[in-house]
Amino acid sequence: MTMTTEPTAPDDITEVHSSLAESAELTAARMPIHDAITTDAASMNGTSPDDTATAVIAPGEARTAPPLPEPAPETVADADTEIAEALAVPREQRPLSTLEADQISAWFGTHKVLERVSLTMPAGQVTALIGPSGCGKSTFLRILNRMHELVPSASLAGEVRLDGDDIYDRNKKLQDARKHIGMVFQKPNPFPAMSIYDNVVSGLKLTGVRVHRDQKDEIVERSLTAAGLWREVKDRLRQPGGGLSGGQQQRLCIARSLAVTPKVLLMDEPCSALDPTSTRVIEETMMELQKEVTIVIVTHNMQQAQRVSQQCAFFLASQGTPGQIVEYGDTEAMFSEPQDERTYDYVNGRFG
Ligand SMILES: Nc1ncnc2c1ncn2[C@@H]1O[C@H](COP(=O)(O)OP(=O)(O)OP(=O)(O)O)[C@@H](O)[C@H]1O
Ligand SMILES: [Mg+2]
Repeated sequence: MTMTTEPTAPDDITEVHSSLAESAELTAARMPIHDAITTDAASMNGTSPDDTATAVIAPGEARTAPPLPEPAPETVADADTEIAEALAVPREQRPLSTLEADQISAWFGTHKVLERVSLTMPAGQVTALIGPSGCGKSTFLRILNRMHELVPSASLAGEVRLDGDDIYDRNKKLQDARKHIGMVFQKPNPFPAMSIYDNVVSGLKLTGVRVHRDQKDEIVERSLTAAGLWREVKDRLRQPGGGLSGGQQQRLCIARSLAVTPKVLLMDEPCSALDPTSTRVIEETMMELQKEVTIVIVTHNMQQAQRVSQQCAFFLASQGTPGQIVEYGDTEAMFSEPQDERTYDYVNGRFG
């Protein structure tokens, strides 16, 4: 995702929302997603009723919906309390969260791209999603924090449970899913002209969280430290984020995601645009981070999957069929003794 417009007033949430609207991936964040969710199976395009047993998005409604209102005061108050509570507990004592995807199917229009994918991403572990291009890894990842529904033609069926609670439940707020389940993209996307400090703080604003001014310093230091960037930038926090190297910018984006103390961090090929040294630093950062946040990473780098993950899921969409998980389990076992011949061929570089 590339940001094309700079927010002119970093302290103004409205401005940050406006800036986000410039990006293709978040444009539809202005839509009231709850209105866009329906359990009416008949609203699905080209699907059989048994495919649509649970939460289903009706893209037609989503396309015409009015803009998302600014966060309600209750939301801000709740978020404040949660952040304050999270900060009060030392990170090693914070409970870790499990994310479960249950029977996830996904469509773009009538094109079905995922077929009943179920996967448990255990608390405090790194789960790697691997598989050839186009098999639905990114789509699956975006379903895990409700970004898939922002694509006008997109729809889905199934449940995503964070510690047992379905994030697509009608009573759940979209912003809660984003706050608890952060996302880091392939291409580092800090606000280039905004200061390093404000880039981190923007993570709070993007999820509608307000904190007291004197809490900001603590959050910025904690987030940059957890992202492995603090020592390199602590003397230039007021300089623009765009002045950092690609690897540093990616860690700045990780810090921005961490500002709201998420329970899960999703990373879609976070190192594919980086040099080997920056990649290594990000991998080391991930190994530290998993002590406080559950991580799901998409990677095409088989060595990286083996270095950073404990669990691994191999996705495949063979001959135009929707993507499915062929094999899932302990990473070491998946690479040394895969149970499925297709997994063996993929992890040994015979296709993909
Ligand atoms: N916005 C979209 N509109 C329509 N189809 C899409 C959209 N995004 C993805 N697709 C389709 O969904 C399928 C899965 O794509 P996805 O990006 O999830 O694959 P991927 O496994 O992440 O691939 P890669 O490894 O190349 O990133 C593909 O057939 C793709 O063409
Ligand atoms: Mg992808």
